[in-house]
Amino acid sequence: MAADKVFHPRSEGIPSEGVNDQYADGVAARVWKKFIGDLNQRTQNYKDFLIGLLKQHGCKKVLDIACGTGVDSMMLVDEGFEVVSVDASDKMLKYALKARWEKRKNPKYDNWIIEEANWETLPRDVGSFLPGVLFDAVICLGNSFAHLLDEHGDQRVQRHCLSNFEQCLKPGGLLFIDHRNYDHMIATGSTPSKSIYYNYPVNFKTSVLVVSGKPEMVTLDYCIDGDEHNEKSEFRLCYYPHSLKKLTSMLDDAFGNRSKHHIYGDFKPLSEVSEPAFYIHVLEKAK
Ligand SMILES: C[S@@+](CC[C@H](N)C(=O)[O-])C[C@H]1O[C@@H](n2cnc3c(N)ncnc32)[C@H](O)[C@@H]1O
Repeated sequence: MAADKVFHPRSEGIPSEGVNDQYADGVAARVWKKFIGDLNQRTQNYKDFLIGLLKQHGCKKVLDIACGTGVDSMMLVDEGFEVVSVDASDKMLKYALKARWEKRKNPKYDNWIIEEANWETLPRDVGSFLPGVLFDAVICLGNSFAHLLDEHGDQRVQRHCLSNFEQCLKPGGLLFIDHRNYDHMIATGSTPSKSIYYNYPVNFKTSVLVVSGKPEMVTLDYCIDGDEHNEKSEFRLCYYPHSLKKLTSMLDDAFGNRSKHHIYGDFKPLSEVSEPAFYIHVLEKAK
């Protein structure tokens, strides 16, 4: 039995057809901006890492495939990249669309494209509004990919999605994909509180569901105090606990042996960090 049949999100959303949208009830979407803070709270390390590598490789056209409320996309639009932002959750996209409207007087935002798309059908979804367009870079950041649970127990959906990401890239294009350090979370039952994306520490309650000796799901309970209506917000998100080794090999399979694959821990070379909170994979599609 798949883990998500046993362990349910605390806030029961009504999923949109065909997509397991954990944000569908709007609870996480409503407080996400509060959770991630505004653009200025993105750490300098993160900006320097992402923008530095994109510029170093001459990337111009970037597809943000887990744009959520648009925080990463806006950082890239501000830096002059041509950005196409997609997400499966209309509840999250609502905030990105609102942000674009609020920036409508800034000419940099005139060409920011925001559309709904699902990783499982990504090339077709993107092709429906931008036929034949391939990207210099695809980004899937903020621990997003782990939202895809392992429905069939053999990670076939994850493999299919990784291959879809590769198909959206030009030859030589880059994929940035990250995940929390689930090896550490499974071993300790806790989530490192250091935050590498935001300028403040975040505390979660971590639960690891082990089925027949195999870690099948990690849930994080987020508790955010006092929003503008002084109401406490609690929501739970579920993740597939990727081991570094397994996800590395699935990425290598999707990109083929002529591609290049670099792995960073908290934006530094792996040799410089002993227990990173996040791993960031950067793949370069073969030319
Ligand atoms: C943790 S949020 C991250 C958003 C943003 N990158 C950030 O750092 O704030 C993960 C996003 O992945 C999206 N997502 C999850 N599964 C998806 C799928 N199958 N296709 C497209 N987007 C998906 C969710 O809707 C959500 O907005």
